[in-house]
Amino acid sequence: MNISGSIKDTRNQVKEWKSQGLSVALVPTMGYLHDGHKSLMERARKENDKVVVSIFVNPMQFGPQEDYDSYPRDLERDGAICQEAGVDWIFHPEVEEMYGPHFCGYVDMHTLPEKLCGASRPVHFRGVQTVVSKLFHIIPAQRAYFGQKDAQQLAIIRRMVMDLDFDIEIIGCPIVREADGLAKSSRNTYLSREERAQAVILNQSLEEAMRLVEAGEKEAEKVKEAIIKKLSGCPLARIDYVEIVSFDNIQPIQRLEGPVLIAIAVYIGTTRLIDNRIIM
Ligand code: PAJ
Repeated sequence: MNISGSIKDTRNQVKEWKSQGLSVALVPTMGYLHDGHKSLMERARKENDKVVVSIFVNPMQFGPQEDYDSYPRDLERDGAICQEAGVDWIFHPEVEEMYGPHFCGYVDMHTLPEKLCGASRPVHFRGVQTVVSKLFHIIPAQRAYFGQKDAQQLAIIRRMVMDLDFDIEIIGCPIVREADGLAKSSRNTYLSREERAQAVILNQSLEEAMRLVEAGEKEAEKVKEAIIKKLSGCPLARIDYVEIVSFDNIQPIQRLEGPVLIAIAVYIGTTRLIDNRIIM
């Protein structure tokens, strides 16, 4: 396994693999890897000849008051996890390698990034789309793997690939959870013991919602109310949003029909966590 911070070397290696007729997968990450990331790598490993993982804490997707500086980083541990998952190449660039001094080329879109996480993180998805576009150019893989944990991100990347004709297949992978149901996240390390114990409320509130849906409830408002009621019973939880939208275009819906995304963002103490259910 190689680790490279160079755009040129990484691009040349991927081109060489492709000229040999090998299929290449990309798994974009911000590092501090956990079993959620590992599940993407393992799936990529199974379905492709070569696997590239990018590890880059992308400053452009963090707002000025957000946790860019304190975002956890541990390249040594990440390297060991990648090795174990059979990764062939880690692309780990410095910020200066990705964004030169006069950088001003952004990728953005209307509608999809405006609701849910985009409402409280206005520059976030522009940063995600810009860095993912750059990664797709640097690493012209046949397939890229993304988690449903970040469902809005997944919908935006799919739309971006469709609208801008990127020649890459986007594979969405299921959410990996802790034993008690909390979705794995690099940000879970911010939680104190008590916060960690109460963070299970996100998944529990979504389970409550799914019980209603499975019992035949079609009114989005009723399902939303049940989630809010469950979350409100948790002293350390502060709701950022509870939304029920169409998974295709991230627009609010009244009735649960077609592909539906039930998405929540909740502060547990000062840590903002997200979780969701997708109903196809
Ligand atoms: P990051 O938060 O490191 O996540 C990298 C990938 O891992 C994303 O596709 C995310 O959805 C997936 N992932 C995270 N937790 C998961 C879990 N519990 N189960 C399954 N998949 C999980 O998302 C980003 O980085 C960045 O925005 C990035 C796309 C790399 C652009 O900078």
